[in-house]
Amino acid sequence: MFDGAYTDAEARRARRLESIYHVGQDRIWDGRAVLSSLVEKHGRPRLGDRETRALGRIFSIIMWGELAAWKISAQLADVLVDLEPKMAAASQVHDEARHFYVMHDYLEALGYRPPPLDFWSRRVVEMTLGTDDVGKKLMGMQLTIETIALTIFQRVREMNVEPVLSELLPYYERDEARHVGLGTQLVPAIVKDMGVRQAIDFVLFELDLLFSTLMGLKAMEPDLLSIGVDPRSILAIGFRKQTELNREMRHEFPWFPEDPPVDRAFHGMCEALFPTEGSGVRVPPARRVAHAMGVVARTRKSVLQTYDRHHAAAP
Ligand SMILES: [Fe+2]
Ligand SMILES: [Fe+2]
Repeated sequence: MFDGAYTDAEARRARRLESIYHVGQDRIWDGRAVLSSLVEKHGRPRLGDRETRALGRIFSIIMWGELAAWKISAQLADVLVDLEPKMAAASQVHDEARHFYVMHDYLEALGYRPPPLDFWSRRVVEMTLGTDDVGKKLMGMQLTIETIALTIFQRVREMNVEPVLSELLPYYERDEARHVGLGTQLVPAIVKDMGVRQAIDFVLFELDLLFSTLMGLKAMEPDLLSIGVDPRSILAIGFRKQTELNREMRHEFPWFPEDPPVDRAFHGMCEALFPTEGSGVRVPPARRVAHAMGVVARTRKSVLQTYDRHHAAAP
């Protein structure tokens, strides 16, 4: 903070990172008070058996994800050396602890007992928890887990599946959006300093993590459809958020590529697992692969880019 060697850009980023802590302090909310006032306003959350199971399963994954986020942000608060990102991570620890217990209490009010995490979601959090590489940890936590959670929150809130949850989620979204900021401010600088071998290792980790995230979403697909949420809408929102993040990172780090190869590969994977044709439409494997390759080559628009045009429901 008092290092005279800071360049202007570094000093600006440091101030932004420090402000993640201060804004977090200003916008802190009392989880117990918020949840009980929402239950008082709308009554205990009540849904049919099928919707309760579907919503319960999706938000159990979120609840375990919050516990993992709590541990991962605590690791980051420990290992980050510079004081400003350390402050940002420390404030995230406090937020994630609140997110975990409020989601636990919400599921209890809904009358749902959370099952253990499924294989793929568990893999995503264990990979992020287990790596000693700060760049991979930040990319996994701040840019992947946070973004996917944000998109699920936004879509479930928009579908107004259950009123207590719909009014609770904006509190989460505000906090998670701040957490993404820690990743966008730090990850490009870390990537820039990597040697070739380290960069390849980083990209392979990222692709593995993104593939596991998509498989986790695939496992969630029947439950999402049960509450009226097409996973493609989640990918479409995620795509817009990713585009925004890339723009932000390019603004700060002009060398950041326009259409990073990892994004192309990810969009191809999305097309293969969630074909544009829609859920329930059988698409032969050979055609899926051909479409996915077209997306990677950018000769075909991906499900992420085309979803909005076909579905007015997506904002
Ligand atoms: Fe969280
Ligand atoms: Fe978070």
